[in-house]
Amino acid sequence: MMKILAIVLLFNCSIVVGQNKLNIVPAPVEVKMGKGFSVLKEPISFMLTNLEDSEPNDGEALFEQYLKTNYGIKRFQYRGKPDINLATQITFTGVSTEEEKGYYELEIKNNNINIRGTALGKFYAFETLKQMVTVNAKNQLVIPNCIIKDYPRFPYRGMHLDVGRHFFPISFVKKYIDYLAAYKFNTFHWHLTEDQGWRIEIKKYPLLTQVGGCRDRTLIGRYGSNKYDSIKYCGYYTQQQIKEIVQYAADRYITVIPEIEMPGHSTAALASYPYLGCTKGPYKVMDTWGVLDDVYCAGNDSTFTFLQNVLDEVMQLFPSKYIHIGGDECPKERWKTCPLCQKRIKDNNLKDEHALQSYFIQHIEKYLNSKGRKIIGWDEILEGGLAPNAVVMSWRGEAGGIEAAKQKHNVIMTPGNPMYFDHTQSKNEDSVTFGGYNPIENVYAYEPVPKELNAEQGKYILGAQANMWTEYQSNERKIEYQLFPRITALSEVLWSPKEKRDWKDFERRLPVIFERLDKRHTNYSSAYYDLNSKILPTENYEGLLFKLESKNKMLTIKYMDDDLKAQMNLPQKNEKGEKIEVLSDIYWGEGKIYKTPILIKNNNTILASSYKNKEQMSNTVVQKFLFNKATGKKITLTTQASKSYPGDGAFTLVNGVQNEKGMSKSSEFLGFNGTDMDATIDLGKDMQVSKITLHTLKQNGSWIYLPSRVEVSYIPYYDSTTISNDQPIELVTVDIKQEDDINKIEIIKEKFCRYIHIRAVNYGLIPSGKPGAGNQAWLFVDEIEVQ
Ligand code: ACM
Ligand code: ZN
Repeated sequence: MMKILAIVLLFNCSIVVGQNKLNIVPAPVEVKMGKGFSVLKEPISFMLTNLEDSEPNDGEALFEQYLKTNYGIKRFQYRGKPDINLATQITFTGVSTEEEKGYYELEIKNNNINIRGTALGKFYAFETLKQMVTVNAKNQLVIPNCIIKDYPRFPYRGMHLDVGRHFFPISFVKKYIDYLAAYKFNTFHWHLTEDQGWRIEIKKYPLLTQVGGCRDRTLIGRYGSNKYDSIKYCGYYTQQQIKEIVQYAADRYITVIPEIEMPGHSTAALASYPYLGCTKGPYKVMDTWGVLDDVYCAGNDSTFTFLQNVLDEVMQLFPSKYIHIGGDECPKERWKTCPLCQKRIKDNNLKDEHALQSYFIQHIEKYLNSKGRKIIGWDEILEGGLAPNAVVMSWRGEAGGIEAAKQKHNVIMTPGNPMYFDHTQSKNEDSVTFGGYNPIENVYAYEPVPKELNAEQGKYILGAQANMWTEYQSNERKIEYQLFPRITALSEVLWSPKEKRDWKDFERRLPVIFERLDKRHTNYSSAYYDLNSKILPTENYEGLLFKLESKNKMLTIKYMDDDLKAQMNLPQKNEKGEKIEVLSDIYWGEGKIYKTPILIKNNNTILASSYKNKEQMSNTVVQKFLFNKATGKKITLTTQASKSYPGDGAFTLVNGVQNEKGMSKSSEFLGFNGTDMDATIDLGKDMQVSKITLHTLKQNGSWIYLPSRVEVSYIPYYDSTTISNDQPIELVTVDIKQEDDINKIEIIKEKFCRYIHIRAVNYGLIPSGKPGAGNQAWLFVDEIEVQ
């Protein structure tokens, strides 16, 4: 039987009539609305009972601080015993031990607040209360009268932060922990070591932070840019600071799990102590992103001595049951040619280098187990055999997690889609993010227990976590932008009962979430209000349809086309004489109201945006259409594009959108990995053709190559149903030089024809010495223009 405690907050009486739905995230298990509001007046009186509970609890103090900071409440009173004794017994029916740990009941009635629950439950009750306090029209602090019963669904509710790629000071780490606490997360996964920086002081190995804590420069822009700044970038946490963070988190009932990466992602450590690598260096702390071949030597005993000594200090600092040891993305190149690693394989009868990785992880697991700790590793630790007591963090999709659960191992789900919060949440992203599209509705819809598992196996899913990798996040505002509002959606996935999840009701609460974030000056993405657009073919292949859509159906969409702009006599050029493409918002009142997809028949530039009353809520969509003889026409592909870059299928190549150099959107391209683009366009009738232009992309740093050759066949129309074999088909071939810095290929030919068959031959294998050497090249095509 659990211990019970009760707290009574007594307030002066006054009733305000109002709302009948709460705006709490994550949604509580059970809510019964009462009538009206209770009013909070100074001094706020806390009445505490049954505090024999031995666990520390800062719930009251943090709540008091919250009211002080946000509402200026200064006077609080504490009394030891309540005047009225509350029930001291709670019956938990249908609640598991894990759920019981976070259970609370909250009753707000007659200007009293009664909280019953465990010490942890009481903490969560205060977090719920914080979201319930509002100011009414009379400027009073009020809380809606209601009864709440609440407890968490999953025992592991995590958020991760990578401080290796970019370093964040403890002031921000505390803020991040506050965000976790506000949404009832209980685990902070702190990714402390990386190729680009070692961030935790280890007394026995001072060079880890002196050398490994600094890199000479940092990549600018996206991976593959090959551009660097010239700024030395350093940062690490002292052991004192780490202790401060661990305590700060514990005060908020959050466990900090440190991650010390091995055997890969470790060049910062190798740069500090080159004897840890197979080749003995020299190594440098990495200045770009990606996966590196230099990893800890698995054959040298001194690697294990080093790691055990490091882990000894880590365990002193972090009382967590789990220590995360990484295990992901470890290339085996060095091990294949290292005599010590090969000896280790032979001496231990290991099958190959994958088995050596498994040996490595199991060795470390044994050590940590002997100290009473358990390991968590990324799903690669399944390869070559899972360490006996390991918890698997499934990040390359869900397959690793499913496999581990079937092997009766505990699992934390964190699949890249949709749990990587470094991926974009908007199709109109204007800042650099890691690929991938993980919008809030996908996060909200995520179900951590895969349907491939039966009920028994499903119990091994401890919960889920979202990851915040920081290659492209160098400042605190950006982290907040990537975190919010997705963390609120995830909190509901992890806390609220599965059957309570309701996207419509979450949408109702989202504006309130945004309002609260605004009040606290927290940055967030408003991608939820994005206006998304899609170009569609017409039924008769004449012209194009431009479809506009907002997730929020309450908004009005307005747009302008070139005709309207001309009628309005708007300035066409700015003071510098440059053509104005994007009009300022002041013209928006004049826009046409969008109802159905817009038919486009000629060159045009559409501007569109969505509004709530007169307030612009979304981004402005600007879509330029350039027409040619192929635009909107029927097109077929012999081989479809890769699933990674599918565009809108073959139609993408004739949709009137041409990417301009340096402003390319990958969604506008078809990507062919190692395969050719082989397309046939039907112009509808015989036409005079003079030139074909293939719009492509060259970005060798990202494995994207020009085709090696383009072949065009011009096929005349013969009768209404067939392409005649007797007709002279003209074939024109152009060989392409890879050195050319071009993004379009022109084939000039005068011809009267109906069908055009175009084949762009993939470059093939990427040559050695180039990024991605040995892999198949990508061929990217965004438009086929026929003049
Ligand atoms: C990972 O994203 N490499 C775990
Ligand atoms: Zn080695």
